[in-house]
Amino acid sequence: MGTERYVPAGADLDGLRAAAGSCRGCDLYKDATRTVFGAGPADARVLVVGEVPGDQEDRNGEPFVGPAGRLLDRALEEAGIDRTQVYVTNAVKHFKFVPAERGKRRIHRTPSRTEVVACRPWLDAELDLIEPDLVVCLGATAAKSLLGQGFRVTKERGEVVSLPGRSARAVSTVHPSSVLRADDRAGAYRELLADLTAAATALP
Ligand code: URA
Ligand code: SF4
Repeated sequence: MGTERYVPAGADLDGLRAAAGSCRGCDLYKDATRTVFGAGPADARVLVVGEVPGDQEDRNGEPFVGPAGRLLDRALEEAGIDRTQVYVTNAVKHFKFVPAERGKRRIHRTPSRTEVVACRPWLDAELDLIEPDLVVCLGATAAKSLLGQGFRVTKERGEVVSLPGRSARAVSTVHPSSVLRADDRAGAYRELLADLTAAATALP
């Protein structure tokens, strides 16, 4: 049996968040500190999906509170998307990492397809409750989870598409962490901003 058994029927967001705290739908709960569930208003018009919580999110329990989150906040604001109207979450809700060879640092690992599929019932439950008008996928993990394995962010970024099985529209872009790692950081940021600006125009 899968993750569905942990998802309470008829729960509100707080109920879901509480239940996700004891999810054992895949092995990632074993090494992570805690579940990092989505955050934001239940009536958000925009739902932003990242990949997996990072080190700071794992310590904090809140999504996108580290460096990638700060860049995301700035880009949303500049794109004219009211950050207080945005619900942010991740495709996978436990931090995946390997310890650094030396020291206490923990190095982020991309979740496997199996882990993304295992965590999907939580994302579906968030989408069911919030019913956003627009879903923004940050990076390939989120885009493939929601738009299909064949989706290519490099080719289809910034395009307004419909979200399969739902009335929402979706726009994908790169993950803000990739902007932070880019050689041409200013250029990568401009492209992220262009995609988010296109996303903003898809709002009713
Ligand atoms: N990267 C993500 O994909 N999600 C977070 O919450 C933080 C960093
Ligand atoms: Fe459950 Fe998702 Fe955590 Fe796996 S990553 S244990 S499916 S909440």
